[in-house]
Amino acid sequence: MELKGHSRIKRFAQIGGGAIGMGWTIRGLANGLDVTIADPAPGIEKRIRAEVEARWPIMERQGLKPGASPDRMKVVSSIAEAVADADFIQENVPENLDLKVRVFKEISDHAAPDVIIASSTSGLLPSKIQGMTKGPERVIVAHPFTPLYILPLVEIAGGEKTSEEAKKKAAGFYASIGMRPLEVRKEVDGFISDRLQVAMWHEALHLVKEGVATIAEIDAAVNGGPGLRWAVTGLAMTWHISGDRGLQGSMRGINTDDLNYSKLKPPRFTDDFIDEVHGQAVDAMGGRSASDMQRRRDETLLKVIEVIRENWYPQGQDGWPEMQQLD
Ligand SMILES: NC(=O)c1ccc[n+]([C@@H]2O[C@H](COP(=O)([O-])OP(=O)(O)OC[C@H]3O[C@@H](n4cnc5c(N)ncnc54)[C@H](O)[C@@H]3O)[C@@H](O)[C@H]2O)c1
Repeated sequence: MELKGHSRIKRFAQIGGGAIGMGWTIRGLANGLDVTIADPAPGIEKRIRAEVEARWPIMERQGLKPGASPDRMKVVSSIAEAVADADFIQENVPENLDLKVRVFKEISDHAAPDVIIASSTSGLLPSKIQGMTKGPERVIVAHPFTPLYILPLVEIAGGEKTSEEAKKKAAGFYASIGMRPLEVRKEVDGFISDRLQVAMWHEALHLVKEGVATIAEIDAAVNGGPGLRWAVTGLAMTWHISGDRGLQGSMRGINTDDLNYSKLKPPRFTDDFIDEVHGQAVDAMGGRSASDMQRRRDETLLKVIEVIRENWYPQGQDGWPEMQQLD
């Protein structure tokens, strides 16, 4: 059976209307969809309506799709009611595998068979979540990032039984609501982004525990330097275009595998592995030259810094742990 793709998706159902369910609701409404939310929590409707109202001005600034309206949302009390006429279903219940497996079964008992069912899980494997679902080929993970009504990334992962069609149609749907889908090639705990974030977070906590840095110093070390350039060129490309010999030079020169800065053990930097990593970075550059990328990076960074200065807290109130300075 052919699954519904984005041109046939008008009704977007949310199972769970907490932080993430609200984020999807806001994004869905701003993109001209009808959004139905099932969540048994007392007072949930009032909370979601208040959140939608509070975020609507920023959605207007991002540009609303034709027909977009905060009034096109409905809160219902059962999963059956939420999914009965849904064209795309997003599950956002708490991060608990047993609960998700049960909720997916219940969703699939009541949803049309040609509707994709996505989980917002931060790290549970889709093969496990789809265990009891009717039509497991339409189950995917679509992992968003807060604030999800602004951030474009959504990681798409399939389980053992997920079809390619489900992943690709889900990607088309998320792109149609302004996101940048990223395929996770192999299902793995934490997917890509949380693996990276958790690795850094654990390093940060070691530094705090050892008394090397405070939380404010950890954040300053990220958002005053590496974090700014990561926003433009990511982790790998930042290093690839920063020297003459790209990642090959970096991995053989400054960032070798015997550096013991980190508690995390790197894989062995064999010649083959260095060639593979360097080759992937060259591929990722496509037709762009390092010099042109550096020029655009610099221009973009200037603007990002300007925007942060204009909109974020001024120096002295931004949490930066100021050093005593002497002349
Ligand atoms: N918070 C984040 O930054 C974030 C980011 C990405 C992904 N996620 C993932 O999104 C999911 C939801 O996280 P959250 O932060 O929104 O959690 P949350 O606790 O804020 O919200 C969960 C909601 O689910 C509702 N719920 C519980 N059981 C339910 C059921 N049987 N049917 C319908 N609703 C039910 C609860 O009442 C609650 O409102 C988790 O899997 C989490 O890992 C969270």
